[in-house]
Amino acid sequence: MPALEVRDLSKSFPGVKALEGVGFAAYAGEVHTLLGENGAGKSTLLKTVFGVQRPDSGEILVDGKPVSFTEPSDAMAVGIAMVHQELSLVSEVTAIQNLVLGRERRRLGVIDWREARRRATAALERLRFDAPIDVPVSRLSVAQQQLVELARAISTDARIIIMDEPTASLTSAESERLFEVIEDLRSAGTAVIYVSHRLKEVLDLSDRVTALRDGCLVGTKRRSEIASEDDLVQMMVGRELAALGVSGSGAEPGEEGLRVEGVSVPGVVDDVSFAVRRGEVVGLAGMVGAGRTELARAVIGADRRSSGEVYVQGERVRIKRPGDAIAAGIALLTEDRKHQGLALDMTTASNVTLMDPPGRGGLLSRRRQKAVATEALKPLNTKMQVDKPVRTLSGGNQQKVVLARWLRTESNVFIFDEPTRGIDVGAKGEIHAIMRGLADAGKAVLMISSDLPEVLAMSDRVLVMRRGRVVAELDRDEATEESVVRHAAAE
Ligand SMILES: Nc1ncnc2c1ncn2[C@@H]1O[C@H](COP(=O)(O)OP(=O)(O)OP(=O)(O)O)[C@@H](O)[C@H]1O
Ligand SMILES: [Mg+2]
Repeated sequence: MPALEVRDLSKSFPGVKALEGVGFAAYAGEVHTLLGENGAGKSTLLKTVFGVQRPDSGEILVDGKPVSFTEPSDAMAVGIAMVHQELSLVSEVTAIQNLVLGRERRRLGVIDWREARRRATAALERLRFDAPIDVPVSRLSVAQQQLVELARAISTDARIIIMDEPTASLTSAESERLFEVIEDLRSAGTAVIYVSHRLKEVLDLSDRVTALRDGCLVGTKRRSEIASEDDLVQMMVGRELAALGVSGSGAEPGEEGLRVEGVSVPGVVDDVSFAVRRGEVVGLAGMVGAGRTELARAVIGADRRSSGEVYVQGERVRIKRPGDAIAAGIALLTEDRKHQGLALDMTTASNVTLMDPPGRGGLLSRRRQKAVATEALKPLNTKMQVDKPVRTLSGGNQQKVVLARWLRTESNVFIFDEPTRGIDVGAKGEIHAIMRGLADAGKAVLMISSDLPEVLAMSDRVLVMRRGRVVAELDRDEATEESVVRHAAAE
């Protein structure tokens, strides 16, 4: 008997059939992966299983018994835990409190706080979480918050654990730790339901794979029936994709586009200097916590730097706040789209056109906004409705909205922080092509990415950060998986 079974599940939102008659089953001791392009319905399916959303029709069975959840605590009560795609921590409280809070909701009345704290700490240790556990989680990076979310799920004794893109914001080293934990969970007889756009990971981890396409079930395959990543792509999109990966342009880079000199942020960034020339894509690699995002934020004035200068095309620019950076022609596409990138209650059309200069009558007309947004999203290979609030888009489609907006600006310098996080394979290739296109058009491109193959495929040069410093600068020929990891991890 499966630990979890879903039968003939349907769910519609205004104007979208998110799920149509979907079924699958997950057994104890298996890792069952859900696969599908952005907007295919993976998160919606899992949210109905976890009681976040109510299905319109269909059945959910746990250990063969039909269940009906009105809220997540109902699902937790029968032993289901979920790691959400979008961070769901309470940002004002500490990591440890976030872990214990889940417990509190679970066993109302009978909370053994001591025990809860012990288990929470153990789970964090198991993931080798090395940030402070007693500061509000809002002060942690996205990756660190993700580890807290994971720890929360594994510190319960759930028999069914749902992980919706848990590695999207983790580096390879951190992902490895998670895989060890998943291995243990599998051996202990937990049913793990997993979602990832990283196909290698899917091949490495899965016992079975179920694919969705436009809200419909494509089918389920055992790992032994899947030979390669191409087979996964085939299941997911129903067609072959052009080869992924855009190589360096090979063209001589031009003059300096961005120069950063002696930037420091106490405790996180230590006297960093580097330059990116026009026509060049420079990759910024490093482990989580190495200070890459913090460096980018300090450069654009989102965080205060204690020292350091920024030059755009050879001229010093004074940047005190993000508005100054935009005015100086620097675009930063943030990794944390939920908090820094998007106005979630505004429509996709308004979000894409948010930074456009106002038209003659003040704001752009609604119709014009829609037309502009539709046009801007076209190269990103998506069919989203632009007049719906961004909140209602799938995770990957939200990322595409952030991209579309910045691509419309007249910036000369583009800083991408995890640009393909949560993006499906098809669109990932498009985004790589877009980044290369920007460089070819004479822009300076700095790309922060934890996806090492992406860094190696895209970058003309790779900078490696460790503990707030740039510790290596590698040419295209010197940059290999091995060399980058060695510099990133060396003590
Ligand atoms: N609360 C909501 N209101 C309206 N539409 C929604 C809502 N949640 C999801 N949708 C829509 O349902 C469809 C499926 O979205 P879902 O988030 O399940 O996709 P996904 O497969 O998880 O994609 P991704 O890989 O990008 O995370 C999308 O068209 C999405 O816009
Ligand atoms: Mg999703």
